[in-house]
Amino acid sequence: MNRLALVFAALLLAGCGNANRAPAGTQGDAARGRIALAQYGCRACHMIPGVTGSKVYVGRPLEEMARRPIIAGTLPNNQANLVRWIRNPQAIDPRTAMPVLGVSERDAVDMSAYLLSH
Ligand code: HEC
Repeated sequence: MNRLALVFAALLLAGCGNANRAPAGTQGDAARGRIALAQYGCRACHMIPGVTGSKVYVGRPLEEMARRPIIAGTLPNNQANLVRWIRNPQAIDPRTAMPVLGVSERDAVDMSAYLLSH
């Protein structure tokens, strides 16, 4: 493969991984994040686009997260705060009904990458 083809392939790959609305500079692996969202059972309380299950409204549907200026009623919405919230919502709001689910840093980053792109 010549150099131009390599560059083209790289652009194509970047394009595929990024076929979404995530803000520039979003870290993490959204595809892995989608799996993590299912594994940690977030769907028990939230509807999440692309993660299947019955309709639940304990927490708000986690769709169009990138468009929300504020998350959980208190935090400015950015990836770092999303990760903080996912990992330890009780530290931010001790009265929230969302439990601490023991989400690892990497899983939270990947989940936020997914949520910010759907
Ligand atoms: C037991 C139910 C429950 C589970 C399980 C749960 N959440 Fe939540 N979540 C909530 C509730 C309730 C809120 C609303 C909190 C608030 O505004 O104080 C919330 C809020 C959020 C928010 C902020 C949403 C917004 O609109 O501002 C995000 C993001 C979020 N949860 C992500 C997750 C992720 C990711 C998981 C899985 C790791 C998860 N939640 C698991 C109940 C849950």
